[in-house]
Formats: sequence, structure tokens, C-alpha cells
Amino acid sequence: MQSPLQKPLSERIAVVTGASHGLGQSIARHLAMLGGDVVLIARREGPLNSTAASLREMGTRILAVSCNVADRDQVRRAAQEIVDEWGRVDVLVNNAGIPAPRSVPETEFHDWDAVIGTNLSGAFYMTRALWPALTAGDAGYVINISGTNGVRGSSSPAYASAKFGLTGLTYAIAASGKAYNVRATVLYPGGMDTGWRGAPIGVKPRRETMDPDEVARYVGYLVTSPTEFVINESVLNPIAEPFM
Ligand SMILES: NC(=O)c1ccc[n+]([C@@H]2O[C@H](COP(=O)([O-])OP(=O)(O)OC[C@H]3O[C@@H](n4cnc5c(N)ncnc54)[C@H](OP(=O)(O)O)[C@@H]3O)[C@@H](O)[C@H]2O)c1
Repeated sequence: MQSPLQKPLSERIAVVTGASHGLGQSIARHLAMLGGDVVLIARREGPLNSTAASLREMGTRILAVSCNVADRDQVRRAAQEIVDEWGRVDVLVNNAGIPAPRSVPETEFHDWDAVIGTNLSGAFYMTRALWPALTAGDAGYVINISGTNGVRGSSSPAYASAKFGLTGLTYAIAASGKAYNVRATVLYPGGMDTGWRGAPIGVKPRRETMDPDEVARYVGYLVTSPTEFVINESVLNPIAEPFM
């Protein structure tokens, strides 16, 4: 039974991919603020470790695991490390993503492999590798970060295909997960102020680009919502940039 002083995610364990920068870092910080123990995943150890150091100041347990989510062997090893250290996973946020060339002729086969590998296969690899850990508790949750390109498409074949694919993956997770009370949501954020594609940070007005902390707050809402219902999809946009 949760005491009134306990934070809503106390004694819950969350894994966030792409947690060393941008939206993933905001989500990891917000989940730690809600009392969760958080596993941070990204490839480069420098930004990963400095993110871990700053999040530890919030008082919850933070584990930094360097892993390329597009690499199945690295994902298997990371999942094993998480289970060995903490035994269970309650929340998985598949957020790691990379941008892609913007048209068919610009997209080389290696671009396709890299983008599908990270933005789509990476989400499946992480979910599959952590499935026993996610279904071991009483209320697992998988959140896949797509984008508005995953709803309306885009000129980029690899990026749009990966993001559309996350919708199918999310519903498959929901179908396989319901017997274990595992929920699944796909989020479609529009433009966020994370420096994506080298955009300068802090220049656009907030009406035109979202603060990733606001999207992270929504993730916090989802994972602390009553376990008997689920929001399977949500589009989030800056007010001046509706996409439809
Ligand atoms: N920013 C936007 O406007 C926007 C809009 C809609 C959707 N999104 C989606 O939101 C997500 C986050 O975007 P963002 O703007 O926050 O990105 P970002 O600032 O570039 O951060 C990406 C994070 O993912 C990690 N990462 C990249 N490839 C990885 C891999 N193969 N394995 C593990 N970690 C990896 C990066 O660290 P390392 O490089 O060290 O691995 C970094 O921590 C992405 O899925 C993106 O498609 C972004």
C-alpha cells in the first residue's frame, strides 16, 4: 500500500533508451522526480555518465548502461545486466532515434538499415529482451516514441517507415501484454526543442516547438495513471504547429 508521502513511481523501475540527451533525458529526469529508479541507455558513455550523475542528485537509483539498441547482442547483454542488477522492469520507454535522409534518392541502403535498425528494430529488440522482466511485475508499461511523421508520413522513406512501424509494434505489445497487465502507448510528438538535425536550441518560441520536459510530463502522467485503462495513442503538438 502506498503511503501518502511516497512518490507515485517509488519502488518502480523504468528503462529509458536514448536517455543521454533531448526527450529521453527529460523523460528519465521526470521519472526519477516521480520517485522511479531509472536505467539510462545510450551509446556514448560520456553523455550517459554525466546524465546519470546529475539524475542521482534526485535521490533515486540510476543505472547507466551503454548499448546500441540496433545491435541485438548489445541489447541482450544490456537486458541481462538490468535484470542481474535490479531483477524487474516496470516501464520501458523506447525513445532512441536518429534522423534520416529526406527523400528516396538520398536514402542509401546503409541509411535505411541504420534508421530502421535504431528507430524500429531497436524498440522491438529492447521490448523482446526485457519481456520476462516486464511481465514479472503486476503492471508493466511500454511507451514507444514515434512522431507526427508516424501519423501523416514524411518525405523520408526510412524515418516514416520506422515511425509507422512503431504503431503496429505498440498494438502487438498491447495484445501480447494484456494477459500480464502490460500496457502499451505510442506517442506522436511534433517538433521539440532538442537540437534535432542540428537546429539551434532555445531560439523558436514555445508556441512553435515543444519543451521536451512537457512531453516528459505526459509520459509521467501515463505511467502513473490507473492500471485498468490505457491510452494507446497520443499526438502532442506545439499550438502553432498543428499538422492536420
Ligand atoms: N526532436 C524532435 O523534434 C522530434 C520530433 C518527433 C519525434 N522525435 C523522436 O523523439 C526521439 C528523441 O528525439 P530527440 O530529439 O530527443 O533526439 P536527440 O536529442 O538526438 O537524442 C537522441 C538520444 O538517443 C541516443 N541514441 C541514438 N541512437 C542510439 C542507438 N542506436 N542506441 C542507443 N541510443 C541511441 C543518443 O545518444 P547516443 O548518440 O550516445 O547513442 C541520445 O541520447 C526520437 O525517437 C525522435 O525520432 C523527435
